[in-house]
Parts: sequence; structure tokens; C-alpha cells
Amino acid sequence: MLVADTPAPVLATPDDFKRGMRQLAAGVNVITVAIDGVREGLTATAVCSISAEPPHLLVCINSTAGAHGSIHRAGAFCLNVLAQDQEAIARRFANMDGSERQDRFSIGSWTTLSTGAPALDGALANFDCIVVREIEAATHTVFIGRVLGVRTNEAGAPLIYSHGRFTGIAD
Ligand SMILES: Cc1cc2nc3c(=O)[nH]c(=O)nc-3n(C[C@H](O)[C@H](O)[C@H](O)COP(=O)(O)O)c2cc1C
Repeated sequence: MLVADTPAPVLATPDDFKRGMRQLAAGVNVITVAIDGVREGLTATAVCSISAEPPHLLVCINSTAGAHGSIHRAGAFCLNVLAQDQEAIARRFANMDGSERQDRFSIGSWTTLSTGAPALDGALANFDCIVVREIEAATHTVFIGRVLGVRTNEAGAPLIYSHGRFTGIAD
């Protein structure tokens, strides 16, 4: 039964949501794909481990992102976990440095693993994945990847995004 003075539910606004999300520190990644000889990629923090046995992870990609359709068509992507000294690559792949989209891969050194997606050398980890499921959710698609290959660089420190800026982890 409704009580007369129960407040009506209030939906969070996009600004409420963004204000809350600024509080959620996250590791910074670049998700890449190659199809028909064209490489694409974007900076992303909305990524998550799903399971180790067998290895699966997920990435959330806005349907307006240039790489979205290519990941769908290629059925593959590489998740590159950035090191703190790779901030320029994070800015480049988030369209923050004024460069053209076709110039994204002109910084960094890139290797192709088994899916054909570009893997960033010097990243803390590269997860080479095939897409096993896609879930549409609001403006984004959740791509679930089965991990075919992993390459790690244990020496570096992670690049973090927090309160709207790139930073690192204090010792
Ligand atoms: C720190 C940071 C994290 C981001 N995380 C995501 C993300 O998880 N998913 C996403 O679709 N876009 C994310 N973006 C936005 C894309 O990187 C950005 O819109 C990019 O320019 C999209 O690629 P495009 O320019 O080729 O369309 C993020 C941007 C920044 C700066």
C-alpha cells in the first residue's frame, strides 16, 4: 500500500551518473581491432574480467565509436592494459590530442597476435580475444571475449583515470 507522503522515485540524471563515476578510479586500456587491413581502436575503462576457466572478459563500447562496427564484423579485439608511461596513447585513442583517426597507430609499437588485432608493445598486458557474445545495453554494446592469448609485461605501473584525469598509483 502506498503511504500518502512517500516520495515519488527519482531517476538519476546523466550528470548525477557522471558525478558518481568520477569517484570510480579505473585502469586505462586501449581496445583495438583490424579488419580488411584497417586498424581501429579506442581508449576504454569499462572492461572487466569474467572467468578464468575458461578465460573470458568483457568490454563495453559505445555504438558511436569508430571501432564498434569493426569489432562486430571482425568478431575479435585485443584489450591492451596501459602502463603509466603510455598516457599519450590513451589521449590519442580517446580523440583528445587533436590528431586524425587514421594516425592513431603512428605512436607506439604494435604486434599482431593470433586474431589479427593490434597488440601494443610495452602494455602491462595484452588480451587477444574472439567475440563470443554481444549484449546491447543503452548506448553501449557489451562484447564478451574468449581470451585466446595473453602477453604480459610485469615491470610497469598501471595508468589510472580518476576524477577526470590520468594519474598513477601512489606507492
Ligand atoms: C579515460 C577514458 C575512458 C573511456 N572509456 C570508454 C569505454 O569504456 N567505452 C567507450 O565506448 N568509450 C570510452 N571512452 C571514450 C572513447 O575513448 C572515445 O569516445 C573515442 O574517441 C572513441 O573512438 P572514436 O573517436 O574512434 O569514435 C573513454 C574515454 C576516456 C578518456
